[in-house]
Amino acid sequence: MSKITVIGAGNVGATCVDVLATREICNEVVVIDIKENFADGKALDIWETSPVFGSDTRVTGVTNDYTKTADSDIVIITSGIPRKPGMSRDDLISTNANIVKSVTGQAIKYSPNAIIIVVANPLDVMTYTAYLTAKIDSRKVFGMAGILDTARFRSFLALELDISPKDIQTLLMGGHGDTMVPLPRYTTVAGIPITQLIKKERLDEIIQRTKVGGGEIVKLLGTSAWYAPGAAVAQMAEAILNDQKRIFPCCTLLKGEYGLENIYLGVPVKLGKNGIEQIIEIELNEEEKADMNRSAESVKGVMKVLDDMKLF
Ligand code: NAI
Ligand code: 2OP
Repeated sequence: MSKITVIGAGNVGATCVDVLATREICNEVVVIDIKENFADGKALDIWETSPVFGSDTRVTGVTNDYTKTADSDIVIITSGIPRKPGMSRDDLISTNANIVKSVTGQAIKYSPNAIIIVVANPLDVMTYTAYLTAKIDSRKVFGMAGILDTARFRSFLALELDISPKDIQTLLMGGHGDTMVPLPRYTTVAGIPITQLIKKERLDEIIQRTKVGGGEIVKLLGTSAWYAPGAAVAQMAEAILNDQKRIFPCCTLLKGEYGLENIYLGVPVKLGKNGIEQIIEIELNEEEKADMNRSAESVKGVMKVLDDMKLF
């Protein structure tokens, strides 16, 4: 029996529950929200799709009752405010750090062996917040951003080349912000280097669109994305529960890898039943290293804001 708790029944949380249930990624999903009856209603609506899709996954929703989340294998944290037009992800920290600290503390009390996946923004520092609160092995606390950011890059490349997104492999590192580091040198189409298929100037434009891909959706919708983020975090849960040992870019605590210490940042990892089973250190050229360090500096700036909040 596998059980997942999703904290926050908003746009990302509910979409994630829907994907987990429809694709039968686990046996049971509990979704919890602070807003009275909100998770209950979302869960009931999703459960009522099960006869249509032919899914067995049990979906229940509760209002702030953590006893119902007990013994979860995975806890996914989506609770937190999303950004509005004109805001950066970093503007969310004062509200979201308190929420993430509070929900992590309650969830880990009832599911001490759970793997925690953070989605709330600013992602890298909210994942660090969950780690500081949960006080468990860092290989069991990590964040979702890289799958979303690479999915955006892959989807744009697929449109550009008029090919299936399935055939595009890519890698992206760094923080989940405008300083993220897409890596065209590690991007291929069915093994063919992307640099042989798209001219540099055009590729640079697509990379820039990827970096501000979250903002593009915020401008269109007035709030941030949820379909791709919800699906991306469900894919991480699937890799863990089925011990798939997939290689994904995930937001991970670095302990000297890439020359960085005590900072959560996106890097390629192997994801299996134990959480992050390996951090993969790829070779970066001077320009890529500089981009990675710039991204780390930007995340450190947000970590300083967390420090100043004196929550820990
Ligand atoms: P939303 O506003 O639709 O949903 C958030 C939900 O959290 C609300 O239902 C709210 O009632 C709930 N909530 C707030 N405080 C809570 C608490 N203490 N306990 C339980 N529930 C609580 O927001 P949305 O669009 O779902 O986004 C959620 C977060 O995910 C935002 O911080 C957003 O920036 C982030 N995000 C991160 C992505 C990533 O790639 N890492 C992608 C998309 C969104
Ligand atoms: C995104 O990239 C808001 O982080 C969220 O869509």
